[in-house]
Amino acid sequence: MSEFITLTIDGREIKAAPGTSILRAALANDIYIPHLCDHKDLTSVGICRVCLVDIEGRRPTVSCMTPVEEGMVVSTANEELEQTRRMNLELLVLNHDYDCQNCAQNNKCQLQELTRFIGLDEDRIKAMRAPELADPIDDSNPYYLRDMNRCVRCGICVRACEEIQGDECIDFVFRGIETRIGVLGDKPIIDSTCTTCGECVTRCPVGALVPRHAVEPTYEVETVCPFCGCGCGILVGARGGKVVSSTAIPDSPSSGGSLCVKGRFGLGFVNSPRRLTTPLIRKEGKLVEAGWDEALSLVAEKLGRYKGSEYATIASAKCNVEDNYVMQKFTRAVMGTNNIDHCARL
Ligand code: FES
Repeated sequence: MSEFITLTIDGREIKAAPGTSILRAALANDIYIPHLCDHKDLTSVGICRVCLVDIEGRRPTVSCMTPVEEGMVVSTANEELEQTRRMNLELLVLNHDYDCQNCAQNNKCQLQELTRFIGLDEDRIKAMRAPELADPIDDSNPYYLRDMNRCVRCGICVRACEEIQGDECIDFVFRGIETRIGVLGDKPIIDSTCTTCGECVTRCPVGALVPRHAVEPTYEVETVCPFCGCGCGILVGARGGKVVSSTAIPDSPSSGGSLCVKGRFGLGFVNSPRRLTTPLIRKEGKLVEAGWDEALSLVAEKLGRYKGSEYATIASAKCNVEDNYVMQKFTRAVMGTNNIDHCARL
């Protein structure tokens, strides 16, 4: 028996593994079905209802929640589907802040893409528009902003928090038209258990969750996070000779596309004017800049005054494995002591 299921989407025969949703099977084969609440890293929940498709012999069906079946014949476009999708999209944007020009997500927004693809009747929206929520922007977190006036309640942030970070610090709160994403007791995010990993921020399809200091990089470099020994893969973005962003490499073998607060938001130290770039030696009570040869000679001379248990090393998680190996070798073989420890996490 074949390990793949064969189905037809828009007249094209495609194959997909059992259990794959129609939406993901279509997208994997470059067949676009509009969607908003589905995310490849998260379980599907079928909230937005814009991913409707027609399956031969059935009524319009939510494609993100329907697994592929042998011999299925799917159609992604017809007049009825388009009308229903448009109505579902209208319901999503009724309460959405339309000020795209002042949104950090402008031109990268999935809602804008959907609106362009599906099309909206502006007059109908104006007539149905719900009263403005005018929620104050939650700027309590030092690294990202929460603007619930731009939220479309897709729940991606809730699932990212729960499924990727295992935190569950946010959820749907209130009821009916007042439903929104919030924390226990409707407090500012800083008063929750949020660890600022940014998994929700990076997946928010609209401008509801945005980094506080978002600057578009002109180029990105693939590297490894400098903070600890986990070795998470990151893309460091730079602009004008300065580091301006850090994003996870999705298929990084050590991190699988996740980052913590340090790797995602903590690279500002690279541009800090207070960063040490030359050794400093204390002379007559003052730290003065010195060359590396002078500094290393001084360290060697001072280390020569100690032996055995008079000496201890604290190794750094910022060093790589090889550097830390040399550190323990030096401590044991040269200084003659097992007094060595390591700040495994920063
Ligand atoms: Fe299918 Fe939202 S993507 S319901």
